[in-house]
Amino acid sequence: MKKITLKNGESLLIRKVEKEDIDEVMQYMSLIGGESDNLTFGDGEWTVTYEQEINYIENVNTSNSIMLVAIIDGKIVGSTSLSAGTRSRVKHTGEMGITVRKAYWNCGIGSLLLGELLNFAKETKIIRKVNLIVKKDNLNAIKLYEKYGFKKEGLVTREFLVNGKFYDSVHMGLEID
Ligand SMILES: CC(C)(COP(=O)(O)OP(=O)(O)OC[C@H]1O[C@@H](n2cnc3c(N)ncnc32)[C@H](O)[C@@H]1OP(=O)(O)O)[C@@H](O)C(=O)NCCC(=O)NCCS
Repeated sequence: MKKITLKNGESLLIRKVEKEDIDEVMQYMSLIGGESDNLTFGDGEWTVTYEQEINYIENVNTSNSIMLVAIIDGKIVGSTSLSAGTRSRVKHTGEMGITVRKAYWNCGIGSLLLGELLNFAKETKIIRKVNLIVKKDNLNAIKLYEKYGFKKEGLVTREFLVNGKFYDSVHMGLEID
């Protein structure tokens, strides 16, 4: 758990997601799709049910996987997750994702969340590689990842189809010593 005072004076709490967050998580997920063209789902396209999400929250935090939420005044304003393999040959690799509510972009929350996620990854002593997929034109996110040492590893064509247009994706990765 981490408490930070933002430049605008608001206090931000970053912690692991808990079962009691379910209503906030459902609302958060349904809102972020409509705030960005850079996610795998758009407005109204978050179709995960309450039961599926509860099940996810109850099982997400393990020895090598995690979901963190960033909270201001009881409201989730950002989230990040690392989903690692379970089999011995892949449990050292995790796929990460990150989102922040649009009203809070450029306040440093994404950077704080990613820093905490990578601290967790290092502390596990299990995770040796963090992977992610980002839309090629999502330059702000790519900058954020590069700031933390992620390297571009490959380009996949037509991975996204947004508003009738195909977009390539960049696969990025960070090796953990
Ligand atoms: C990408 C995202 C998570 C960044 O979160 P954020 O809280 O706005 O980011 P921060 O304010 O912490 O900025 C972190 C870094 O990102 C980069 N960045 C963010 N916004 C930027 C902008 N408008 N211009 C240039 N760089 C930017 C910079 O490297 C910045 O580091 P710096 O402040 O040290 O220069 C957020 O914009 C978001 O949720 N976008 C929609 C969903 C999304 O694209 N998720 C990623 C999918 S792969």
